Amino acid sequence: MKAIVVYQSLWGSTAAVAQAIAEGLGKGAKALSTTEATPEALRGVDLVVAGAPIHAFNLPTKESVESSLDRAVKKGDPSPDVSQMLMRDWLGGLPGGIGAAAAAFDTRVPGPLGHGGASKILKRMDRAGLTPVAKPRGFQVAMRTTESIKTGELLDGELDRAREWGRELAAAVA
Ligand SMILES: Cc1cc2nc3c(=O)[nH]c(=O)nc-3n(C[C@H](O)[C@H](O)[C@H](O)COP(=O)(O)O)c2cc1C
Repeated sequence: MKAIVVYQSLWGSTAAVAQAIAEGLGKGAKALSTTEATPEALRGVDLVVAGAPIHAFNLPTKESVESSLDRAVKKGDPSPDVSQMLMRDWLGGLPGGIGAAAAAFDTRVPGPLGHGGASKILKRMDRAGLTPVAKPRGFQVAMRTTESIKTGELLDGELDRAREWGRELAAAVA
């Protein structure tokens, strides 16, 4: 099976989840950033999985990505990668006629803030003509402070969950 796992990721957590999902999907699957996942890269795929971090109960916007540059909690924190195409723009540019299965995920902090990401991605993929094969899935990162929601590390076990989900998706599409 040919599968692409597309991600937008500022601090690397969503990218790491995407990579683990691709590992679970098996040979023929690869993780690509929104910038790398061009319409040509999607040609002939059986499954497209897409994921992004939740920003303010929504998919990242230009403003939320820019605001993340000011969110260093302490000196020495890594800088976010603000260069990737926004997931919402990537979804807007999905070519018609891909004819593939679809699944979506997000990364989020634990608790009530964690909604508004994966479900939106899946709805937009559905509208673009892809066929959802699984419920949207969230993977959790630790929240560092309550004042400044930013990246944290993925909680223990989340990469294993991602790999397992990849295996389940491969079985659902087979
Ligand atoms: C501007 C901004 C807004 C955020 N808003 C939310 C939110 O509403 N809900 C939530 O669960 N996490 C929120 N977060 C935390 C992100 O989900 C977290 O930074 C992300 O999962 C890390 O993934 P990444 O390393 O791939 O960027 C926010 C983060 C930023 C930078």
